[in-house]
Amino acid sequence: MAVKASVLVASAIATLARAAQPGAASPIAAPMRDLVWGKLNFLHTTDTHGWHGGHLQEAQYSADWGDYISFAEHLQKEADEQGVDLLLVDTGDRVEGNGLYDASNPKGKYYFDIYREQDVDIICTGNHELYHASTADGEHLRTVPNFQEKYIASNLDYIDPKTGLQIPMAQRYRKFQTKNQKLTIVAMGFLFDFTGNANNTVVQPVRETIKEQWFQDAIRENPDVFVVIGHVGVKMPEFKEIFTAIRKQNWFTPILFFGGHVHVRDATAYDSKSFAIASGRYFETIGWMSVDGDLKRTTKDVVAAAAIDVPPSAEVAGLSFHRRYIDNNLLGLYYHTGLDESTFSTDHGRNVSQMIAQARKDLDLDYTFGCAPKDLWMTRAPYPSEDSIYTWLEKEVLPEIAINNDRKDVPRLVIMNTGAIRFDIFKGKFTRDTTYIISPFLSVLHYIPDVPYEVASKVIGLLNNAGRIMEEASVMEEQAPMDPRFMGIPEQFAITEDIIHEKPMPSFTGDSAVEGQKPLSGDGGSRKEPVLVEGYTTRDDIGDDGDDAVHSAINFYVVPNCIQAEVGFSPKEDDEKPEKVDLVFFDFIQPWVMVALKISGGDYTNDDVKSYVDGTFTELMAGWIKENWPLC
Ligand SMILES: *[C@@H]1O[C@H](CO)[C@@H](O)[C@H](O)[C@H]1NC(C)=O
Ligand SMILES: *[C@@H]1O[C@H](CO)[C@@H](O)[C@H](O)[C@H]1NC(C)=O
Repeated sequence: MAVKASVLVASAIATLARAAQPGAASPIAAPMRDLVWGKLNFLHTTDTHGWHGGHLQEAQYSADWGDYISFAEHLQKEADEQGVDLLLVDTGDRVEGNGLYDASNPKGKYYFDIYREQDVDIICTGNHELYHASTADGEHLRTVPNFQEKYIASNLDYIDPKTGLQIPMAQRYRKFQTKNQKLTIVAMGFLFDFTGNANNTVVQPVRETIKEQWFQDAIRENPDVFVVIGHVGVKMPEFKEIFTAIRKQNWFTPILFFGGHVHVRDATAYDSKSFAIASGRYFETIGWMSVDGDLKRTTKDVVAAAAIDVPPSAEVAGLSFHRRYIDNNLLGLYYHTGLDESTFSTDHGRNVSQMIAQARKDLDLDYTFGCAPKDLWMTRAPYPSEDSIYTWLEKEVLPEIAINNDRKDVPRLVIMNTGAIRFDIFKGKFTRDTTYIISPFLSVLHYIPDVPYEVASKVIGLLNNAGRIMEEASVMEEQAPMDPRFMGIPEQFAITEDIIHEKPMPSFTGDSAVEGQKPLSGDGGSRKEPVLVEGYTTRDDIGDDGDDAVHSAINFYVVPNCIQAEVGFSPKEDDEKPEKVDLVFFDFIQPWVMVALKISGGDYTNDDVKSYVDGTFTELMAGWIKENWPLC
């Protein structure tokens, strides 16, 4: 495996015209690891959440969907020239989380036409396509027809509003031949065992789906390769269930998995002839997977039987798998295609960048509420601390937005779930776009009046520290078990222990770069280490050489499920607690709050819950920013 490291010359930064969106941060250079091509190659996006305009405030992710189209066109040409194949995959959660999707009325007015311009070969649904009936309608009426036979819904049905009939959201699986090598592929597309969908869709648990006749037929199709895509984390049980079912029937066939949902870069192998990748979130990452070796099925495959059940490893049984997490950075895209800013953009890609620019303009996404005086971090700064977005919300924002004019003299505890915040705030303009990026949910504030302080004050501790008790109590209340981690941020769900730390890790230096991929300056004489930009330093089951760009590590601090502001309490000095408080909380966490109240001895039902203040949290926060952060 020859993985080279090289450095993009810094002078590339100084060059002129480029694509990406007007006003987007200029891309920045980093030492690079090459893409490793095989016979069958893939580009993978997942959990893009409307970020098809790229990250305008983050230089290393500032390429847009039009640039990705140019990139894929160049790599497709390369594949054709080499006589190998390239397929594009997307595993859902394309919607919700960015003004380009959320700011229009109806939502997604511009998104569908922009997204469809990419020639995706295998596409499926995420949970965010299904929370609202209208979103699921949009998916069924726009995206499914846009992609036709490429859209797969192995365990998802749609209820047609006209007929009331339950029909597959799209076909259950796809059998096709690749363009250049005529490899036969059987592809499936799953969603994890999701239960929070609106009532116009039906998600079938994976363990039920694999018993169905179509699935049993599909795994007997004898393809050269199975490709299972899913809105499923690669370490989640659903993929293991599918893998086991396919493998029992097909001892020797390569099975490739493309996952998502958990917003992390990750890769693993379930056995020596399988490989799985997850490609991050928010269009920061374009995943690359390749498999090399003899993929056409022949009888000699039988001889490889002995290779079954060996521990995960990248190169055994004549097959080799590679993965690369490509930063959505224009300079990196130039690098991987061997092009530059004068040759990279294709007509098609440029047109799509133009469509995005026009949509952003029509939606007035650059309208500025105020300017953030500094960066505020979700997990890059400890909570509490002055750089924590949660401390800012708790100390400054919640006390001033959680005001009910009829009850403003009643002291209150205001509880917010950390998962209600989706992204960091960067120093500089806080725009209409930013409001959707930070908080795309239509969260509102609810409350229960006059709760004894003794009872109300125990709730936050239970929400944060009593996962087991809360789950058991919810079952006793005859509710579905509610995992309190769902109140927190999805990134924390998936991260492995060794990257969570309470204190900052020692800062990354060139010397701790992966062996063989040390940043090289190219000229043996005056060797200088490039300054590394903070970014992903992924460690997965395959190793720590997955990222295409070498970065310095970003701190990750654990945050609680919920934070709490005490508002209208008497001054700290006299340390006297009120007898009764209003318990104010985000509507999303109401089920957990009710269980926690019950455990703390409060006998309340949903009938006791009222609306506390008009407007969504997002609107209230934008109003606070307009009042408190001057324009820059
Ligand atoms: C879904 O819920 C809505 C609102 O509660 C109701 O009007 C509609 O009939 C339900 N649809 C189905 C298919 O059950
Ligand atoms: C790009 O847009 C122009 C003008 O709308 C159109 O004529 C052209 O066909 C488009 N090209 C591609 C490749 O989409």
